[in-house]
Amino acid sequence: MSRKGSLLKYIQELELQISQQEATYKLLVSKLEDLKLKPEYALELLEFKELSGFKSRTSSFAIRQDLMQKQPVVLPVLIFSCNRPDIRRSLDGLLKYRPDAKKFPIIVSQDCAHSATAKVIRSYSDASQVTYIQQPDQSEPIVPPGEAKFKGYFKISRHYLFGLSQIFRTFNYTAVIIVEDDLDVAPDFFSYFASTYQLLQNDPTLWCVSAWNDNGKASLVDMKQGNKLLYRSDFFPGLGWMITKELWDELEPKWPKSYWDDWMRRPEQRKDRACIRPEISRTRTFGKIGVSNGMFFDKHLKYIKLNEKPVDFSKQNLSHLVQTDYDAEYIRNVYSLPVVSAPDVRTNTNLPFDGPVRITYYTKDSFRNAAKLLGLMDDFKSGVPRTGYHGIVSVFLNGRRVYLAPHSNWKGYDLTWS
Ligand code: UD1
Ligand code: MN
Repeated sequence: MSRKGSLLKYIQELELQISQQEATYKLLVSKLEDLKLKPEYALELLEFKELSGFKSRTSSFAIRQDLMQKQPVVLPVLIFSCNRPDIRRSLDGLLKYRPDAKKFPIIVSQDCAHSATAKVIRSYSDASQVTYIQQPDQSEPIVPPGEAKFKGYFKISRHYLFGLSQIFRTFNYTAVIIVEDDLDVAPDFFSYFASTYQLLQNDPTLWCVSAWNDNGKASLVDMKQGNKLLYRSDFFPGLGWMITKELWDELEPKWPKSYWDDWMRRPEQRKDRACIRPEISRTRTFGKIGVSNGMFFDKHLKYIKLNEKPVDFSKQNLSHLVQTDYDAEYIRNVYSLPVVSAPDVRTNTNLPFDGPVRITYYTKDSFRNAAKLLGLMDDFKSGVPRTGYHGIVSVFLNGRRVYLAPHSNWKGYDLTWS
């Protein structure tokens, strides 16, 4: 081979080496990009760096240890959007109280292709504050005859299926906090979910954590000292709630075409599992105009109070919420209390003692009457009253704790109560 020939070969070899290295670095960069979206890739990335002989000043082992301690779980917030430019209000609230952008990435999923709303969302995604995804199927859903006026519920359900499968299948997260575009959040919203996550993971009789108290009006909760109080609830509250991937694996294959929240409340889905909910709501809705009509909003939703005295839940012992402890303690306590009548509680008369009391109900109507009299939600979904746990509804009225509790040989929820 001539001198010129061997030089050419040498250059070709160099080129090959450079292009191989370039490919390696490109892969590394793309892994780093992924890492922004999926922090659980961090460990994989470290292995990759070791394999590719990538040298860094800190040893991989040290970084690995650090990562395992510092990143127990990423809790993305998925926010559903359609045509409310007011999503700005929700996003500003979330961003204001979010303690850590890596632990709580925000993903906005937009349905409806509404351009004014898209513009608002884009302003946040351009500033790297949120990840913006869009529900691609804008065809009109097929709605059974007679349900035309409920078409919105079919769209919402389709959107939930899309958004949640993105979270768990595409982004590969292990849990999610779900909110909607008309929710305000309390200052300790993130602390609440971060700390209850372990509970949700460890107690198989729990299937969600919710930020919402259906009876969370100022007149029905302990505004003075109730900010740390948490409960178990057989009623699925929604409205700011957390689930794990395991639950989504179970629900996704049978996800309904509409009315997803009432579907969740049915026994086939709930399977006797409970949610954690707070005494004082960590979410509040400002969506008077929406898919369901505004009457419910004016009569009820607008009175729900948002917690204003933040709690650091990482400093709270939450072990009493585990089913075995809770059922033994909570239910026993309720049934040890003096029984009083709803009218006496309402007028705060004929109660010659301070402290907690119990009102007994036997039938659907006796529950309803007592609930109405005291200003509680009086409806049932799949036989469960709002916030009910073993049929017991807890409220705080005229300075005392009041439980509406079924008679003591209660045998479970009655599906015909609706
Ligand atoms: C009510 C519930 C809501 C639930 C819905 C479905 C309350 C206060 N709200 O909706 O939690 O999800 O029923 O049973 O109980 N959206 C779309 N596509 C649409 C229309 C709306 O994705 O075509 C989104 C909205 O952006 C919002 C959510 O669905 O995030 C709920 O819509 P909204 O108009 O607020 O209806 P509600 O009556 O509150
Ligand atoms: Mn709404």
